[in-house]
Amino acid sequence: MNWHQQLASELEAAEAQHLRRVRNVVSSPQGPEISLDRQLINFCSNDYLGFANHPKLIEAAVAAAKKWGVGSGASHLVCGHQELAEDFERDFADFVGAEAALLFSTGYMANFAVINAFFDREGVILQDKLNHASLIDAGRLSRASLQRYSHSDMDSLESRLRELADKPALMATDAVFSMDGDLADLSSISSLAESYGALAYFDDAHGFGVLGVQGRGSLNSQNLRPRGNNLMLATMGKALGSFGAVVAGDQVFVNTLIQKARPYIYTTALPPTVIATNAAALSLLVEEGWRRDHLHTLINGFREEAKSIGLELMESDTPIQPLIVGDNSRALECSAKLREAGILVTAIRPPTVPEGSARLRITLTAAHSEDHLRQLLEALSKLKSEGLL
Ligand SMILES: Cc1ncc(COP(=O)(O)O)c(C=O)c1O
Repeated sequence: MNWHQQLASELEAAEAQHLRRVRNVVSSPQGPEISLDRQLINFCSNDYLGFANHPKLIEAAVAAAKKWGVGSGASHLVCGHQELAEDFERDFADFVGAEAALLFSTGYMANFAVINAFFDREGVILQDKLNHASLIDAGRLSRASLQRYSHSDMDSLESRLRELADKPALMATDAVFSMDGDLADLSSISSLAESYGALAYFDDAHGFGVLGVQGRGSLNSQNLRPRGNNLMLATMGKALGSFGAVVAGDQVFVNTLIQKARPYIYTTALPPTVIATNAAALSLLVEEGWRRDHLHTLINGFREEAKSIGLELMESDTPIQPLIVGDNSRALECSAKLREAGILVTAIRPPTVPEGSARLRITLTAAHSEDHLRQLLEALSKLKSEGLL
């Protein structure tokens, strides 16, 4: 078999195991209802605050395009670091209580940058087993050695730190776990960083905008700041409704990233339209706090009702409310039946989640109404009565 045939047979095998990934073509803007082959209520986006199609953000993007054009022209270190980027970094750092912040094109690239910038072969990267793929991939590609501790097991993490003696260590964790919705114990990890002289890196892709005072994120919700040994990542493609990512922490870390982070140095800076949109979204976090209130009302309502119809929920108070199905083909069947009922929830299967834990990753957003929620719960209740959940 040549490699071409090999690839084709791998695709066939994935299909047979109900693991083949397909893309849905969306023919409308993002929102609580989107058009695929028809209009569906959307319960699988990360647009937690309903910002992706917000008129003020569209206005900000258009105004920036008119004033600044559509391209940044070069990387930040050549001539692409526009005033808009400089201002956004300053405002973001102030908002989260950090000394400094640095923009990246994506969270994936930012994670790659942080995991690889601070030390080389002598270092150790300690990661929660359920971390996002971008952290795990960065750890695997790093010259430092990678160790993974059991999910949220602080004893296991501490015993590993103890064994490292003087080796430099970076602990990395999702602050809100992307496929489970639960929160990491950031306070304990931050204390361990302090005690062992390690760096704590909190990936707040799913907490920033949603948790903490005015949406300042998971660290804020646990009375922490990205200072000292704590470093944080926020992504802009989720609650901020736009695109890009930012790392915030002490100036020394940001300066080191500017010198050494290859995914920062060797790529074109974000376009002005995107940065201006993110800046406007940052203001909206403060101006439209009702969105977070409404979102948390929906989350509580969903959990109460789901329990009353006998659904097994995960330990999550965040917009990510997964229902574990287990089997891949059953997860696909549930997703297909929801779609027949006018509801979009994609089935998440391995390797995105561990083997045997395929799930419906339901996400709630501030743009959903009580009526959307009622329709979701009715459809889930039907799946339950058919023995599928
Ligand atoms: C926890 C986590 N970190 C990082 C990322 C990557 O962020 P981005 O989509 O900006 O590349 C994601 C999202 O996909 C995520 O869920």
